[in-house]
Formats: sequence, C-alpha cells, structure tokens
Amino acid sequence: MTGSLVDDLRAVVGQQHVLTDADLRATYETDWLRQWHGTTPCVVRPGSAAEVADVLRTCAAAGVAVVPQGGNTGLVGGSVPRAGAVLLSMQRFTSLGEVDPLAMQVTAGAGVTIEALQQHARAAGLDFAVDWGARATATVGGAVNTNAGGSRVVRFGTMRAQVLGLQAVLADGSVITQLDGLPKETAGSHLPSLLVGSEGTLAVVTAARMRLVPWYRETAAAVIACDSLVHAVGLLPMLRQLPSLDAVELLMPHALAVACRHLGVTPPLDPSSAGAFVLVDCAAHSDPSDELAQLLQQERGVIATDARRDLLFHIRDHVTIAIGALGVPLKLDVAVPVQHLDRLVRRTTAALPSGAQLVVFGHLAEGNLHVNVLGAGDAAAEVRDTVLAAAVELGGTVSAEHGIGVAKTDWLQRMKGPAAFGALLAIKRALDPQGLLNPGVLFPVE
Ligand code: LAC
Ligand code: ZN
Repeated sequence: MTGSLVDDLRAVVGQQHVLTDADLRATYETDWLRQWHGTTPCVVRPGSAAEVADVLRTCAAAGVAVVPQGGNTGLVGGSVPRAGAVLLSMQRFTSLGEVDPLAMQVTAGAGVTIEALQQHARAAGLDFAVDWGARATATVGGAVNTNAGGSRVVRFGTMRAQVLGLQAVLADGSVITQLDGLPKETAGSHLPSLLVGSEGTLAVVTAARMRLVPWYRETAAAVIACDSLVHAVGLLPMLRQLPSLDAVELLMPHALAVACRHLGVTPPLDPSSAGAFVLVDCAAHSDPSDELAQLLQQERGVIATDARRDLLFHIRDHVTIAIGALGVPLKLDVAVPVQHLDRLVRRTTAALPSGAQLVVFGHLAEGNLHVNVLGAGDAAAEVRDTVLAAAVELGGTVSAEHGIGVAKTDWLQRMKGPAAFGALLAIKRALDPQGLLNPGVLFPVE
C-alpha cells in the first residue's frame, strides 16, 4: 500500500480515524476468541454513509480491498482482515432513531450493539427480538450480514425477519437508502433482504430499519434433564404449544459442566445425571411459570424465575467463552431437521480421534448444533468434513447462524449446488466487479 492511499483516506474520514500504529490495529486484526488473525495496513473508521462511499471509491481507485467489521465477535473469520485489505470499522455508526410505537419499528446504525438496541427498545416499552450471548459487543451491521439467529428464533425468526429496510453503500460508492419500513411493498425484489446474510460481500450496511416486538417482562425458565437427545427432541411438540415459548436451548452434559466450571457456579442439575439438558424460556405479560410447570409435570427438571432464571441463561450464554478458555477448538455451526439431530451427534462422535473432547450445545428448536472439538490435532480437517458432510446429507446446512466466512468457503458450493451457487456468484460479480468487498468470504478468492 502506498502512503498516498493512507493520506487519501485521512482526507476522507479525518486524521484521527485512520489507525496505522500496530498497537492500535491489533484488536481489529484478531477476532475475540483469537481463532483468526490477519494484518491490515490501516483501520478506517468512517462516520457516515457518505464517508463510507468515499472510502470505497478511494480504495477502488487504488485497487485495494475492504473488509468491513462491526463488533468483531464473528466465529468464521469473516471480518478479520486478509491480504493487505483496509479494515473498515463500523463502530462509529451508533445512532439510534426514535422508536415508532405506531409501526413498532426503529432505525439503528450498523455499529449499535444488540444490547444497546434492546435497551433503547425497552425504554419505549418494546423489545428487539434477536438475542444471544455476545449482545454487549456484537453489532447490528454484523447481525444483518450474518443473518444472526440466537436463542429466540423459535418465537421471532432470525435477523431476516426483523429487517424491514437498510441503508447500504455499494462497491461503486452509490448509496441505497430504504429505511421507510413499509410493512407491505411489492415493488420489485427487496434489496435489503438480498443483503441480509451476504457477509459484507455485496455492500457495506450503514443502518437498518428494524421490527420491534412486545416486551414480555415476566419470564420463567426450566432446565429439563432428558435421558437422551432423542428424548429432548421429543419434547418439542409439547413445548411448541406454549404461547409464551421464547427459547428452547440444548446443552449436552459436557457443555453444561464446562460452562459451570468456568463461571465457578454449581450446575442447576448434576451434568452426569442426564444424556441431554433442555433449557426452556418463557416470556409473557403475566407470569408464565404455572403454565410451564404444568406442561413439564411428567419431566425431571427445575423451574426457575427471577435471579435463578437469569443464572441459567448466564450459564448458557457463557458456553462459547468457557470453551475458548480451554483452548482453540474446531468450531462448527450446523443445523439439520430436528429428527436427525441424534444421527448427526452419533456420526460426529464416531469421527473423533481418541483423546479429543466434544462439547455440543445449541438451539434445539432449529436443530442448530454448535459442535466444538478440543484436541482434534491432525484429525481436525477430517472431523470437520465428516460433520459438514453429515449435516448436508441429513438435509441440513453447514452454517446455521455464524455464517460461511472464510472458514467454510469450500463447502458453500457443495451445499448449494451449481445453479444456486452460480446465481449467488453472478450477483456478487455484478455488484462488486472488482472484488473489492470482503474478498475470500463466502466465495473462494478468484
Ligand atoms: C451461541 C453462539 C456461539 O449460541 O452462537 O452461544
Ligand atoms: Zn448460537
């Protein structure tokens, strides 16, 4: 990179928003779990869509790629800089619009954290529907770009179901602004929907118009000890009857043990006493604990409200961090139709080399498993391919919520098939002919 590009970028965003010092760049060059590393000549922190547009035009003129980054809590290397790309940090996009109670919507900047968005909605008596453990750091832009899911998808769907509109800057510097939030509009294909899940490869998202949901303040949770994963899956038809059902999470015994040990808390139930644990959360305008207790009469478990409920979810939220404290695992995020979950876990277990530790947890209602393998050693690549192949063969996906990133580009084509993959690639080439936006993510570098 020439010094003149840095100078040109400084002219666009201001001297203090172009970071070139190694110390200042460091936190942007490695993800939060230290799985992915890269280097960038500079971190650029624009403050408006117009500045993003100028940054993209400037980089395009220099033939230098751009990697957009939000809270850097990704798990597939999608926002870690590669091969001399400029790192475009979206953290200054923290503006939050007024909550519209008539439409139940709000506009949030790409750098707003999920937690800040939730708090903003709650201050107006509403709530934001998507939630997961990294809420304090993960941002709206990243959530849009990965079509983030989390624990409440059973009730409200993924990010795709929340995004009504976007503002986004295309590779050529043109700005699309569709933030009106019209709930009904059939005027051609919905470009914001196209950008959801595109992992920064088609445009830089600067703001999102989002659906809000009622704020259900009364909560009750249950942790259920199941004999097996098959037993856990068998609870779903009954749980889905609950009008207040907010989350159905899965913790295999080792995941429960690892998280509790990391946090230094006593497990709610002895991890060795069951084959699988299901964590259910209910939320409503009036206390849902009775209906939850009644439904679970025949099951072995505990109902928890208030601080004890919060502790259960604190444990759940910390599984990833607890695993990360034990080492850098092979980390997979797969989903299959729920009836095949047990087969997927069996095939995974059979593929492990001796001495490897398997930690499995996830989102039961969506058949979404987070498969973590510690100590796979030389067998890691083989284990990975076995698990991903099994997921696809069972009618599932190689990524349920974390994205493809750079971690699974070899699998996107295999999973999609030539027609769908060809269409995705054609869109990428049409919108970003220079291959400027997040090259190496979703599609292998050409
Ligand atoms: C979770 C993240 C890892 O479910 O997706 O905790
Ligand atoms: Zn998850």
